[in-house]
Amino acid sequence: MQLPAKVKIVDVGPRDGLQNEKEPVPAAVKIELIHRLQAAGLRDIEATSFVSPKWVPQMGDAAQVMAGIARQPGVRYSVLAPNVQGVAGALAANADMVVIFAAASEAFSQRNINCSIEESIERFAPVVAAAHAAGVPVRGAISCAVGCPYEGEIAPAQVEMVARRLKDIGTDEIYVADTIGVGTPRKVQAALEAALKHYPLEKMAGHFHDTYGMALANTLAALALGVWQFDASVAGLGGCPYAKGATGNVATEDVVYMLHGMGIDTGIDLDKLVDASAFISGFLQRKPNSRAANALLSKRAAA
Ligand code: HMG
Ligand code: MG
Repeated sequence: MQLPAKVKIVDVGPRDGLQNEKEPVPAAVKIELIHRLQAAGLRDIEATSFVSPKWVPQMGDAAQVMAGIARQPGVRYSVLAPNVQGVAGALAANADMVVIFAAASEAFSQRNINCSIEESIERFAPVVAAAHAAGVPVRGAISCAVGCPYEGEIAPAQVEMVARRLKDIGTDEIYVADTIGVGTPRKVQAALEAALKHYPLEKMAGHFHDTYGMALANTLAALALGVWQFDASVAGLGGCPYAKGATGNVATEDVVYMLHGMGIDTGIDLDKLVDASAFISGFLQRKPNSRAANALLSKRAAA
């Protein structure tokens, strides 16, 4: 198997990870988590979402979080924006990248952003235009790329269609998301191959939730296709409030442990990443949802 020599990881923990927490997490804790992630060598951090606070109260402090980050040169801070109101907030907060989020499932699109797939594309077009006018690149998610909590299995043709529509409106790069973590390697490869019809590998990432424990296997399957950019969440935090029962993204620690063990460079310091994981898990009063982090923390405790 010919694998990429280098992988870029976007830590989505401060956004995808924390958005699903029931109890409010203070902005200061979110900011400290971002600081710890950048100290661990993360160069891409999904910091927050400029969405309706009625829909996702946990992200209601987006502007405060963005204003509080001591920005490190070379780090890209991205934020979600579902509409023109969101992108206005994102640009006012000096986000380095705007993330729009479409779905390959009609039912999920309705539940998550209250409109059809086609309406969402129409709504995203001015978001892309506004970001580009400010010189800010745009990333597009394709949610439910293998399965949907409401519709079940999703055909690769749906992923292909959404990738094409995202390209039509000028989205710079995309990622294929297994929102509810039901994918298995061949199905994830089929979804990625469908998206690759419209975007090259350089503009494509994988975003795998780990509900069924398949995310690392799916990451390896994506690597085998040449995909070298992945989203992951520190401590395996998270889930989507509109995908009930789905757990967090694959833990960044687990992905980094696997990649380093395979001789693939990430630029991330695993020890410092485990510090970030222990910090946020301590705040949330639970163990990290990462096998590698728990193993390394036990080893530290025993030393
Ligand atoms: P809507 O209710 O149809 O929107 O929601 P609306 O335009 O009718 O506005 C309703 C109210 O929201 C208004 O306030 C607006 O001002 C306000 P009111 O007049 O009632 O006081 N509003 C906003 N406030 C702040 N920022 C905004 C904004 N927009 C409207 N940007 C909408 C439509 C898209 C806004 C809503 O459905 C929404 O915010 N959805 C976001 C849901 C979300 O964040 N889900 C989680 C992220 S996606 C995810 O996790 C998946 C991903 O990880 C990939 C994967 O794993 O699949 C990305
Ligand atoms: Mg997600």
